[in-house]
Amino acid sequence: MDQQTQLKQQAAERALELVKPGMTVGLGSGSTATLWIKLLGEKVRTGGLKIRAIASSDDSEKLGRSYGIPFTSFDEVESLDLTVDGADEVAPGLALIKGGGGKLLREKIVASASKQFVIVADGSKQVEKLGKFPLPVEVIQMAEPLVSRELRELGFTPRIRTQPDGSNYITDEGNLILDCSGLLIDDPAAMAEKLDSIVGVVEHGLFLGMANMALIAEAGGLIERTR
Ligand code: 5RP
Repeated sequence: MDQQTQLKQQAAERALELVKPGMTVGLGSGSTATLWIKLLGEKVRTGGLKIRAIASSDDSEKLGRSYGIPFTSFDEVESLDLTVDGADEVAPGLALIKGGGGKLLREKIVASASKQFVIVADGSKQVEKLGKFPLPVEVIQMAEPLVSRELRELGFTPRIRTQPDGSNYITDEGNLILDCSGLLIDDPAAMAEKLDSIVGVVEHGLFLGMANMALIAEAGGLIERTR
């Protein structure tokens, strides 16, 4: 395990301590969330931990099911007790960029329904200002040229996300992702409002006022950041 993965693992281990029997739990996506799902799955499989889960991606649900984690849905539960997820950038006030793995829409739905939304990350994710990591914006395919134009007017350089074979990356919900680079975001709340108002934008990767805690693992130790 390389050093960055070890740090992610430390954050995931700390987050596991937050899970209590009987909880309904949200499963995030990405490499750090995956480490956490594996730890949680082990506790369900071998430790007899009784929980129910909702996943933020098909991949995370598949992984959870492979450990025997029982899944539920928003037909059955109104809210989640705890969601643990990764982030691409963590700024002051726990303002986040998420969606590097392309799962931002379901991630935001799951986070918005969670009483506790906890971020697990290594120290490299901490920034003073959001935007060095290109902001993922999920768009309806037909609207992409129109949305791209509006994003350029906001100062971004949008690029359609592609897969290694050159084809467009398509989200779990059948949309495109525009990775928007070239702009450090001075006022994330104002930017979120502008993005929300563009017709054809399904969701964007600014997660503001959502995380209650970030467990950040650095070489010097684990930091618990709260809003
Ligand atoms: C996926 C995400 C991930 O949580 C984010 O990209 C962080 O991933 P990782 O833990 O692999 O660094 O938002 O859409």
